[in-house]
Amino acid sequence: MDIALLLFWSTTILGLSHNAEGSLFSIREATVHDIRIALDHNRLTSRELVEFYLKEIRRLNPVLNGVIEVNPDALHLAHKADQDRKAKKPGSMTGLAGIPILLKDNIATKDKLNTTAGSYALLGSVVPQDAGVVKKLRRAGAIILGKASMTEWAGARSSGVPNGWNARRGQSVNPYLKSAYPCGSSTGSAISVAANMVAVTLGTETGGSILCPSSYNSVVGIKPTVGLTSRAGVVPYSPRQDTVGPICRTVSDAVYVLDAIVGFDPDDAVATKKASKYIPHRGYLQFLKSDGLKGKRLGIPRYSLVGFRNSSVLLKAFETHFHVLRKRGAVLVDIVDTASFDTIIISMSNDEFKAVIVEFKLALNAYLKQLITSPVRSLADAIVFNKDHSKLEKIKEYGQDIFEAAEKTNGIGIPERQLLLNLTRASKNGFEKLMKENKLDALVTPISTIVSAISAGGYPGINVPAGYETDGTPYGISFGGLKGSEPKLIEIAYDFEQATKIRKPPPL
Ligand SMILES: *[C@@H]1O[C@H](CO)[C@@H](O)[C@H](O)[C@H]1NC(C)=O
Ligand SMILES: *[C@@H]1O[C@H](CO)[C@@H](O)[C@H](O)[C@H]1NC(C)=O
Ligand SMILES: *[C@@H]1O[C@H](CO)[C@@H](O)[C@H](O)[C@H]1NC(C)=O
Repeated sequence: MDIALLLFWSTTILGLSHNAEGSLFSIREATVHDIRIALDHNRLTSRELVEFYLKEIRRLNPVLNGVIEVNPDALHLAHKADQDRKAKKPGSMTGLAGIPILLKDNIATKDKLNTTAGSYALLGSVVPQDAGVVKKLRRAGAIILGKASMTEWAGARSSGVPNGWNARRGQSVNPYLKSAYPCGSSTGSAISVAANMVAVTLGTETGGSILCPSSYNSVVGIKPTVGLTSRAGVVPYSPRQDTVGPICRTVSDAVYVLDAIVGFDPDDAVATKKASKYIPHRGYLQFLKSDGLKGKRLGIPRYSLVGFRNSSVLLKAFETHFHVLRKRGAVLVDIVDTASFDTIIISMSNDEFKAVIVEFKLALNAYLKQLITSPVRSLADAIVFNKDHSKLEKIKEYGQDIFEAAEKTNGIGIPERQLLLNLTRASKNGFEKLMKENKLDALVTPISTIVSAISAGGYPGINVPAGYETDGTPYGISFGGLKGSEPKLIEIAYDFEQATKIRKPPPL
């Protein structure tokens, strides 16, 4: 084949970038580490990166619906990043300099992008400033490529809204199998990064919204301890449970992003100050260790059916990984008495819903009030907006039952305080007790079922790709730990990932 043609073909189809010397760099599937090296050695520019991703968004997004808005300034920002790089000493660029990131549409940016949680009710609203995590990303040099599609209002509108659907963009699609469940609510983040429409992404989680779509779209998701990352400027669900975290193709990529976004933020002062004691002095990259599983005690609630999808294939596939974990030096601890644990978790999930709808009304009203302008200023306004735009928002089909239930609540009085106390106690007597009595470093579950144990208490979790069912539907494995245990979870996840290397890009 003619070399020029090969270069053209490679560049347009494979996402290879070439410089004057003709050396090739594959952007598709490139890790943050690969990209940093290629940028440092002038084998790649941020502009080429952004051009590649914009092209892939044009090609794939009409089918996948992972991206809700593209930043009109992305190429300009890339050009600026390239100029900055030229002006500095080689290798002196840190963090995410020149690396494009996609943000879930509930994370505010003070630029040309809208922040709408997928709803027309927030289209045209003007935020006062960047979200806390966005300020940190910009400081780390990241390029905001756009906003990711999501389950509308992060699932807070209605139990009838399908995961991955929002009025503005429609239904997001699993890139591995069109008919497969994409999960949510950070659906667009997981889909877009899985399909190489961007380098890295951010999602948010209240009860599974990072870990579940990561599992179903074969990517890595880190749900940080609540407060480790700022929630300021994020359309809220429950401040007691909300957290912002990375969704990426590899554990290493997710850790680069985590390093950039953790830390104190005066606009989310109480939670971020409290959690800042967990942040290791030299950041999280030091925990990407090849012997990360050695000596780790991992709890296996083998017989627990809570939240497990009833698939014998999946459970069997999961068990084959026990072998890998043991071979890498982990100690597997069978959690035999899962019955009492299950009882606590079931009662907790009921209480959790009762609590979050009370918290949602308070937090959403506070968020809407601080906007510069907005079509809606309260939850009550949003309910009316939906009724007035019933066709656009598919209110007949999908309803707004959670909105309506939340609107009926009246803040945190004596019964609500008791409910919250009960929830805290359930976490202590359930997950925490289980972890401590068995001296566990992490609890392990197939797909993202760890969520039922870790959400209410604000504990961290991580999902790593673990396999594909016979029809091609991906599934992950998830690890959960005590507050601030991200270093251990990263060690475990990284070693598991390196030992198995299961993820493959979707067949597009
Ligand atoms: C933001 O929404 C407005 C409509 O209110 C639209 O005109 C504009 O193009 C949107 N911004 C982007 C970056 O898509
Ligand atoms: C799971 O499936 C098996 C066989 O199909 C069935 O016997 C069992 O009752 C199911 N369990 C649950 C919890 O649905
Ligand atoms: C809290 O727990 C106590 C004791 O388990 C129970 O009697 C009470 O109904 C619970 N309160 C709420 C609001 O759930």
